[in-house]
Amino acid sequence: MTPSLIHKHILLGVTGSIAAYKSADIVRRLREAGAIVRVIMTENAKRFITPLTMQAVSGHPIHEDLFDVRAEAAMGHIELARWADVIVVAPATADFMARLANGNANDLLTTLCLATRAPIALAPAMNQAMWQHVLTQDTLQVLKQKGIYFFEPDEGSQACGDVGPGRMMEPVEIVKKVSQLFVTGMLAGKKILITAGPTHEAIDPVRYMTNASSGKMGYALAQAAFEAGAEVSLISGPVHLAVLPHVTCFSVVSAQEMYAAVMKIVTHYDIFLAVAAVADYRCQHVLKQKLHKEEEQTQLQLERNPDIITAVGKLTKRPLIVGFAAETEDVIPRAKQKRKQKNMDLIVANCVGEGMGMNSDDNEVTVIGANFEKMLPRMSKQQLARALIEMIAKF
Ligand code: CTP
Repeated sequence: MTPSLIHKHILLGVTGSIAAYKSADIVRRLREAGAIVRVIMTENAKRFITPLTMQAVSGHPIHEDLFDVRAEAAMGHIELARWADVIVVAPATADFMARLANGNANDLLTTLCLATRAPIALAPAMNQAMWQHVLTQDTLQVLKQKGIYFFEPDEGSQACGDVGPGRMMEPVEIVKKVSQLFVTGMLAGKKILITAGPTHEAIDPVRYMTNASSGKMGYALAQAAFEAGAEVSLISGPVHLAVLPHVTCFSVVSAQEMYAAVMKIVTHYDIFLAVAAVADYRCQHVLKQKLHKEEEQTQLQLERNPDIITAVGKLTKRPLIVGFAAETEDVIPRAKQKRKQKNMDLIVANCVGEGMGMNSDDNEVTVIGANFEKMLPRMSKQQLARALIEMIAKF
């Protein structure tokens, strides 16, 4: 199990080398580790391994043509570049390295490499003389200086009969290296407590009040904090999300339960991230029997739930506090007001609705502190979580 690959979007580029037969194994291993993999094949890659094989192992159609009208309609190349958390090219030929170093965008793979904001890693594979050639070594240095990661080739006997460096790194090692790209250590030694998801407030034995929170943002932050080296505890309301290995999770149902769970342990943490959409009200009297529709109208008497983040903000030994504000209007002024009112260090404000925020896969937020305001553009909740954890670590 490689915990840092869970839910990661990996674009695997395959170029024309005999080592391409190993690319299917890389896909299989990445998926086993929890990643979602899409494959791009160059024209020459298809001479060594069939698109059908790569489609079968990845579970997605292959991307191969920059100007394919149907593919562009399904997931355009810019969308694909944004989708990626990392682009891994394995095997990467000398020709591909040279085209990338030159800034070419003359096929789908090179175009995606220029269009993405995600890190790019290459696993070269070629004849030993080609690898050791001064032009290839110069290209390697140029790409390294530009921030491209390399999983450098092994030495040994080659398909052409030569012996020397140039054999693609073994798939098992490549997968290990990809997972390490996500491990930053920025929060090493820190303990972080996160609340996530909605709460359920009972009305009667079969009904409850809740909200549209899916818990995705809180869980993505827990995963990103773990990858940053923190010890992570998650207090989660009822959600339909997979358990995160290496994160201690406490399940709660109501706001009062969430409040009690947080207050019991929060003083042991360095950072408190309040991502949960906690219900502000609960029923004053939870009915013991099911409510029947005898009347035309009925009323529920509601009372206020405790405000968890406010209570944490009042503690004398208080952690760094980061809250969220999901608003439908006046997003920034309301968030600023909430940050001050609840004594938070940072507040992450987002506008909910129009396919963003609660229960969606993407989000766009503004992070507000006492002296700064930074907007993070629309991206997946996983990408956003990593950006937020980086900001929190720097803060
Ligand atoms: N929060 C909390 N406890 C509550 C309600 C909210 O800890 N009982 C936290 C949320 O986890 C979030 C922040 O407070 O980090 C802001 O939540 P939000 O619902 O936007 O704020 P409210 O204070 O409930 O304001 P509103 O009147 O807009 O609902």
